[in-house]
Amino acid sequence: MALTLKYSTPSLNGTIQVPGDKSISHRSIMFGAMAEGTTTVEGFLLGDDCLSTISCFRKLGVEINLDGDKVSITSGGEASWQEPAEVLDTGNSGTTTRLMLGLLAGTSFHSVMAGDESIAKRPMKRINDPLRQMGADIRGRRDGQFTPLAIQGTKLSAIDYTLPVASAQVKSAILLAALKAEGTTRVTEPVATRDHTEIMLEHFGVKISKNIDTIEIEGGQKLTANHVKVPGDISSAAFLIGAALITPNSEVRLTNVGTNPTRTGILDVIRQMGADFEVEEWKTSGERSADLTIRSSSLNGIEIGGDLIPRLIDEIPLIALVATQANGTTVIKDAEELRVKETDRIAAVVEELSKMGADIEATDDGMIINGPTPLTGASVKSYGDHRLGMMAAVAALIASGDVSIDNPACISVSYPDFVAQLDSLIN
Ligand code: S3P
Repeated sequence: MALTLKYSTPSLNGTIQVPGDKSISHRSIMFGAMAEGTTTVEGFLLGDDCLSTISCFRKLGVEINLDGDKVSITSGGEASWQEPAEVLDTGNSGTTTRLMLGLLAGTSFHSVMAGDESIAKRPMKRINDPLRQMGADIRGRRDGQFTPLAIQGTKLSAIDYTLPVASAQVKSAILLAALKAEGTTRVTEPVATRDHTEIMLEHFGVKISKNIDTIEIEGGQKLTANHVKVPGDISSAAFLIGAALITPNSEVRLTNVGTNPTRTGILDVIRQMGADFEVEEWKTSGERSADLTIRSSSLNGIEIGGDLIPRLIDEIPLIALVATQANGTTVIKDAEELRVKETDRIAAVVEELSKMGADIEATDDGMIINGPTPLTGASVKSYGDHRLGMMAAVAALIASGDVSIDNPACISVSYPDFVAQLDSLIN
């Protein structure tokens, strides 16, 4: 059922704790399942993607208990995982699918992974290439390029690998497989991507070193169960940051938002656009966190590209919306990875914001937005992509007419209470 939103000259005021970081929540389950003993997690994201990860590990025989946003994972370590009798359903989650490939490749059993329609279109060759070089036996449609994938666990050996695409999922899959491989694996990333895997592996007692852009990890290391505090997800916070910036007379405080520097590209961008905001930061479980205060701001168009892109890749739909309200031209480039996300986010963002009256044009690797333009009501498609759904809901705050969003349920992939939390800020 579609969701129709209509706000008349709202302003946003109040304090929100955004839900837990999706990348860190996934890893807390995976690493807890790899460690012997009981791992406890607080601030876990109860979004559909992370629930898919939990369901996959339960099928491997790992005991996982949920109590609100607290989770406990009790495992006998990787050696105790059992051959799953059913297909491991990864839902809409690229992180579950790709990181689990790295984990399943080095087991002693057979498993099959499949997800939804969107997952079936997402490229898996980028993972299978390095894993096959390590000796992995992975089969699937078009020589393993697409799910469903069948993995016959086998012995792996270390590799030296340079990432051809800037992807934390590819990097992480290799690092996880490397723990089961014989020898020392080296992964070089020409452009830095989110380093939650490296930080959390260290938190679980694994020795991992980084020399300039090469990460080194020795096979055969065991993880020690630990406690993980998950900060709020900056990729979810981004939608409320954007909402506060473009809605007049607003001041919003977002508490305990993860500010790992590999994720804070959005803050660099809004600073450069001239936003009025404050950041008060601290550190927990090896990760940085902050309280953010964001006020309505007069913004200017800027150019966004290069090394900044992996630091804000998931925030681009929201940034494009904000840019429609900025003075001048915003150019987003070097972001061709957007074409293989939950949907083709270049085509989808341009199509849907155009419907609302934005002056926006797609390029091969990004988009060009001229602002400011008033937005009108429209019937907006989410493409089943959570970030498109949230972009449309934020656009509704400033649109002159009704905004109706199809399949709004997809928002629960990363932010189940988004619409209710946004509503709670409205005066
Ligand atoms: C993620 C890495 C990124 C990001 C995704 C989560 C992760 O994907 O877009 O939402 O948790 O490692 P890529 O590795 O494909 O860039």
